[in-house]
Amino acid sequence: MSSAKQIRLKKRPVGLPRDDVWEQSQDAPRALQDGEIAIEVQYVSIDPAMRGWLNDVRSYVPPVGIGEVMRAGGVGLVTDSKSKKFAVGDTVLGTTGVQTHYVGTAQGFTRIMPELAPPPKFLGGLGMPGMTAYFGLLDVGQPKEGETVLVSGAAGAVGSVVGQIAKIKGCRVVGIAGGKEKCEMVVEKYGFDACIDYKNEDLAKALKAVCPDRIDIYFDNVGGQTLEHALNRIAMRGRILLCGAISQYNNEGDQRMVGPSNYMNLLVQRARMEGFVVFDYAARFPEAIMEMMGWMQEGKLHLDEHIVEGIDNFPEALRMLFDGRNKGKLVLKVQ
Ligand SMILES: NC(=O)c1ccc[n+]([C@@H]2O[C@H](COP(=O)([O-])OP(=O)(O)OC[C@H]3O[C@@H](n4cnc5c(N)ncnc54)[C@H](OP(=O)(O)O)[C@@H]3O)[C@@H](O)[C@H]2O)c1
Repeated sequence: MSSAKQIRLKKRPVGLPRDDVWEQSQDAPRALQDGEIAIEVQYVSIDPAMRGWLNDVRSYVPPVGIGEVMRAGGVGLVTDSKSKKFAVGDTVLGTTGVQTHYVGTAQGFTRIMPELAPPPKFLGGLGMPGMTAYFGLLDVGQPKEGETVLVSGAAGAVGSVVGQIAKIKGCRVVGIAGGKEKCEMVVEKYGFDACIDYKNEDLAKALKAVCPDRIDIYFDNVGGQTLEHALNRIAMRGRILLCGAISQYNNEGDQRMVGPSNYMNLLVQRARMEGFVVFDYAARFPEAIMEMMGWMQEGKLHLDEHIVEGIDNFPEALRMLFDGRNKGKLVLKVQ
């Protein structure tokens, strides 16, 4: 067995998490108890939500405690089992944490079939971010053919899938992403009708030009100023899907989570804004995975992963999300 390593939370970050927020330990895996499994972790998912889990505030999951192994979804190989659910050699998906070896309850883990798709895809398009795109857009947004769908974070894990599904459903799709290269990818590879480079264009002007008939659905991954601009152009009976607000996650103090001042546009346009959490749809994930695999086989859906190597690079990998250095789903190859 390779030597075990864990990434633990040393102190709560202020702003962007620096290296000194984390500490490494090398505790050997303990013996199994009934109902537990041991996993050699191969890949862990790097998610914007991780930043929220570091704050000591009420959320949809408790914060990661000081000294605890950092929470993360992961995939790996079962190396020992005292659970009836899993056998040695199974590849499983679940909350492994940022560590090379997991020992703990088998509850919450599912078996995946690596012969169907490479394991990192089950952390990306066929995993939590893909499910977020699928249920957020289709269930909460209810897109109709011919409607205009605007998606921020369009080159990322969730956004790239949202836009492709909206195209499959016959919508006109406009993305927002940072930089020329990402915008080209969003249009050329993912098939969006247009993409606005928010880092180099005037977003208000560009939205007016690209969405002359206003926006029926805005799938919001970033919050902040972008949300304000989208609210200004929301259509009658428009829907704003609150998926995330990455532009706000490192804010501190009075500036934490600045909301839009122009929300009265919702009233004027008889529009709505609705938040959702992907885990509420867990029972329906299999139906979404089946449909998405079908779209992949038909060449209508492209799922990309951006893989960073080595558990030691976890702190830097997390920061990559906040300056947009990832294209597609960011995954850490642990070992
Ligand atoms: N509600 C749910 O259940 C749920 C589940 C999963 C994810 N989410 C949310 O979905 C969003 C996307 O997550 P993801 O995993 O797909 O991440 P991602 O889009 O793959 O990566 C994050 C991207 O956000 C963009 N970004 C970073 N800082 C920004 C800023 N200040 N302004 C605008 N864009 C910024 C960057 O792209 P650019 O280069 O384009 O700036 C970066 O690549 C996040 O807000 C996340 O919290 C919600």
